[in-house]
Amino acid sequence: MHPETLAIRTQAARSAHREHAVPLYLTSSFVFDDAEQARALFADEIPGAVYSRYSNPNTDEFTEKLRLLEGAQDGLALASGMSAVFTALASLLGQGDHVVAGRAVFGSTHQLFTRLLPKWGIAHTYVDGADADAFASAITSRTRAIFVETPSNPGLELVDLAALGALARARGIPLVVDNCFATPAITRPLDHGASLVVHSATKFIDGQGRVLGGAIVGDAALVADARYLARHSGPALAPFNAWVLSKSLETLALRVERHAANALTLATALEREPGVRCVRYPFLPSHPQHALARRQMRWGGGVLTLEVDGYARARRVLDALALCSHSPNLGDTRTIVTHPTSTTHSKLSEAERAQVGITPGLLRVSVGLEHPEDVLADLRGALAASA
Ligand SMILES: Cc1ncc(COP(=O)(O)O)c(C=O)c1O
Repeated sequence: MHPETLAIRTQAARSAHREHAVPLYLTSSFVFDDAEQARALFADEIPGAVYSRYSNPNTDEFTEKLRLLEGAQDGLALASGMSAVFTALASLLGQGDHVVAGRAVFGSTHQLFTRLLPKWGIAHTYVDGADADAFASAITSRTRAIFVETPSNPGLELVDLAALGALARARGIPLVVDNCFATPAITRPLDHGASLVVHSATKFIDGQGRVLGGAIVGDAALVADARYLARHSGPALAPFNAWVLSKSLETLALRVERHAANALTLATALEREPGVRCVRYPFLPSHPQHALARRQMRWGGGVLTLEVDGYARARRVLDALALCSHSPNLGDTRTIVTHPTSTTHSKLSEAERAQVGITPGLLRVSVGLEHPEDVLADLRGALAASA
């Protein structure tokens, strides 16, 4: 069946009430029929719910849908995108190991690589994600994972997944892809040779800015290792959040297509707007990796960046917005504008930001589902007021 159908028709088994929409299983644990069943469940001899830190019908349903949409063997739901990124890396890497990462990554992922993983003796090498050869040169005998984000947050840099997937498979090193910006509606990294996909479900998967959530999907053996780590370290997704996210997956393809159409309309118009130095969007011909974007992405995604004249002007634009929200989230029905330099990427040094294209005047726009003419009018007004 097609992804749209799978996202809608995959559902937890009906209860005795024959409900149409799946109920919310707000329960910490599940009851054993008898002593033998309890033993067998704990021994993993039979499937079934035991305790909501391990699994729950709502988290299972959400995971199963995402597994099908990404074309994965197995999957695991987690409390947030960062718990997914951390659990994936921590299950692959141990003391003395090394990870090669595309240098354009989300701010908290950067903190993991530079401050937290080194505490456990795990080293990293950052490479330019646009340079396919750089990954091969950075691999050492201790490299146990390759990690990339594509398109990256917020610079919208792409990584050639087919080339990197082939390299990773040839060298026997798992490739982990943060697919938060593209979602499986646009790109399925496992089809290109990735071993694991991680998600911040908080973004386009929820799509309405309500709950935090995360997931890991991919090769069964690697997901099993991640599940073991999560089961014993505890970043379980709450059943309520899973219920919301599973419902949201039903409309993912529909929403992402419209986000992308609105974003392309805005990006095209903003490129001609006075006061805008540069617009970056994967499906604009001016994007440096436009050909790759057309090859690898079904649509251009819901995020664009625009650059204005410096830090002070960027802040004046934010303060002059009347319709768009000024908030750190993205992937919402509401258009959200963020200034990475002073918020999401403020912990990076200026040099580190410059390397991944985050200039002081850069604004990230997560284009929502409002009418694009209304959003454009608001951005135009804010740009004019900031002059
Ligand atoms: C690309 C990317 N990965 C991971 C995360 C972290 O997700 P969460 O906030 O759900 O922990 C974010 C959050 O913005 C993100 O943009």
